[in-house]
Amino acid sequence: MKYKGIIFDLDGVLCSTDRFHYQAWQQTAREAKAPFDETVNQRLRGVSRMESLEIILEKSPLTFTQPEKERLAEEKNERYRRLLQQMTPADMPAGVREALRALRAAGLKLAVGSSSKNAGFILKQLDAEQYFDAVCDGTRITRSKPHPEVFVKAAGMLGLPAEDCLVVEDAPAGLEAARAAGMDCAGVGDARWPFAPAYRLPDVTALPAALLGGEGARR
Ligand code: G6P
Ligand code: MG
Repeated sequence: MKYKGIIFDLDGVLCSTDRFHYQAWQQTAREAKAPFDETVNQRLRGVSRMESLEIILEKSPLTFTQPEKERLAEEKNERYRRLLQQMTPADMPAGVREALRALRAAGLKLAVGSSSKNAGFILKQLDAEQYFDAVCDGTRITRSKPHPEVFVKAAGMLGLPAEDCLVVEDAPAGLEAARAAGMDCAGVGDARWPFAPAYRLPDVTALPAALLGGEGARR
């Protein structure tokens, strides 16, 4: 086995919070008179809250001071957290739990590496904290993906060197962060990858077979 640890992105990999982010940002975009659609939303994947706001404001005809931007981001987060309260353990598919259990049973250490400051809250809502040896999230980093900080710190928390870790990501910014951290990456979903990830998988449920043998891997 090439790896000793796996670092999972959270949003879009272990669960789907996209619709909540989308809904919460939609109101911000409306206030800023900025266009907002799925293409803009895609660019927010893996990117921190304030950087996401800057992306949304790119097309706004209005200008905002720094304190106004902070208020917009805070209000977005309040809406987002209200929506997250609807999440339950049923929002983490059984197949994902099975995959995490299989990887742990194979002796791998598992971590979460997410730009989100809400990662702890989401893992709690999903009742998924028990699968991870470490959680490195937006509260522990100063620079978000594509900067490698979140993955470097997660590997440190697992006590592993970069080359022993595999990152699992759904976003181009995350793939770039993994490369900058010196880690292989398994890309899940249908993102437009800027370069080929080491593994390309439909979703996390295909990971045990790809790493531990069996069907389902496209290398
Ligand atoms: C994840 C999501 C991004 C989000 C970021 C910050 O990486 O993919 O879309 O902007 O987390 O989330 P937060 O919960 O801290 O606002
Ligand atoms: Mg993601």
